[in-house]
Amino acid sequence: MEYRLHPSILAADFKSLGNEIESVVHSGADGIHIDVMDGDFVPQISFGMPVIRSIRDATDIPFDVHLMVNNPERYIEEFVRCGADIITIHSEATRDVENALKQIRRAGVKVGLALNPGTSLSTLDYLLDEVDMVLLMTVNPGFGGQKYIESSTRKIKALRERAISEGRDLDIEVDGGVTRETLPVVLESGANIIVMGSAIFRGDASENTKKYKSEILKHREG
Ligand code: DX5
Ligand code: ZN
Repeated sequence: MEYRLHPSILAADFKSLGNEIESVVHSGADGIHIDVMDGDFVPQISFGMPVIRSIRDATDIPFDVHLMVNNPERYIEEFVRCGADIITIHSEATRDVENALKQIRRAGVKVGLALNPGTSLSTLDYLLDEVDMVLLMTVNPGFGGQKYIESSTRKIKALRERAISEGRDLDIEVDGGVTRETLPVVLESGANIIVMGSAIFRGDASENTKKYKSEILKHREG
């Protein structure tokens, strides 16, 4: 399994976003997690296409675009044109999840499906064939810097067990409240794509990236 660290730029200093991205990329980040919030699916509005288009010039690293947006099918092709490499939509954000996932597949990028903490894993029944990655929210979406929800640990384990029993090489991404304390827990439970916002960008982003990347690699080596 491939283990990856995806810093979330929601916690970055936007007045020097280009430098922030450059510093995590040079320090070993494997992708950039980009949180798009519409002020409807979640209370906040973050940023959208123009920002993604502009940072696309800064690096070739994969862009992992997490759409916290209602009816995301409206925007999928446009996010691909802006430079997304993975598009993740929320199961709670559209009536026809299956079609929206197929639309992402047709657009030629990796397909992600996100579940809120209160959404059951049974939502994935009949949908796992459509996705490359499941994003398990480990906080309620909407804000950076929240505390990891403990019951997420069971959910990560249950999903990894299910993937193994079905012989699927499924990427499990965790997002929210992943810190020095909770990183070992999510790795042990079976997550392999790790999003970290405040833990990376509060303080020295380059040093933090190196530190957490090396912890992730240590875990991979067992
Ligand atoms: C929350 C976002 C997260 C957020 C994570 O709605 O989806 O990606 O940036 O931030 P931290 O790591 O600070 O919890
Ligand atoms: Zn996110």
